[in-house]
Amino acid sequence: GRKFFVGGNWKCNGTTEEVKKIVATLNDGKVPSQDVVEVVVSPPFVFLPLVQSLLRPDFHVAAQNCWVKKGGAFTGEVSAEILVNLGIPWVIVGHSERRALLGESNEFVGDKVAYALSQGLKVIACVGETLEQREAGSTVDIVAAQTRAIAERISDWENVVIAYEPVWAIGTGKVATPSQAQEVHFELRKWLKENVSAEVSESTRIIYGGSVNGANSKELAAQPDLDGFLVGGASLKPEFVDIINSAT
Ligand code: 13P
Repeated sequence: GRKFFVGGNWKCNGTTEEVKKIVATLNDGKVPSQDVVEVVVSPPFVFLPLVQSLLRPDFHVAAQNCWVKKGGAFTGEVSAEILVNLGIPWVIVGHSERRALLGESNEFVGDKVAYALSQGLKVIACVGETLEQREAGSTVDIVAAQTRAIAERISDWENVVIAYEPVWAIGTGKVATPSQAQEVHFELRKWLKENVSAEVSESTRIIYGGSVNGANSKELAAQPDLDGFLVGGASLKPEFVDIINSAT
């Protein structure tokens, strides 16, 4: 079976004091064992060492981005090598905010996923359609094209989690209904079966993100092709523990 996965994407938020408080709440949280649910939190780069040093050992950290290739003269970037050097196991790649605001293309995201994996990082690769694309009926085509750009560049999916995050649901309070989410997760899994392999389709976790909270996570988690969450706003709050607990 696919182990339930809950990621907390803190985005560009937090002060040192707030970070310490969030971590203290997580450390006190009663949650299933890491054999049942994998929990990863993703603070801004500069807080990663602090969070790593304070966080309970059964939870892990993720960076929110990394450079597309080997590091060097790329001012303002953080390379996969640096993340590995710091012992950071995970990286989020292709978040819709970066695709939209920083112009990251499908190909660029695919290159990043491939490079991060090649350096030994585990990757949370984000895909998702805009409202306009959904209304035009192209949701499946869009997420398939985003996934294809990754599939063309990697052969081993063991260290990849796909996060389906419909752009219209991110930070809007407009969560996808369980059946809307399940439909896209099912289509993504089918795409993997037809274009990668039956084995990768069965084993790859496909998690949902977009206005997940402590009140809606349980019903979403019950969907057969939904293997966890990538949580934004609610990951900064105590209810993140409730979301983790929706695994069981
Ligand atoms: P919200 O949970 O704030 O909608 O954000 C989702 C997200 O973008 C996680 O990566």
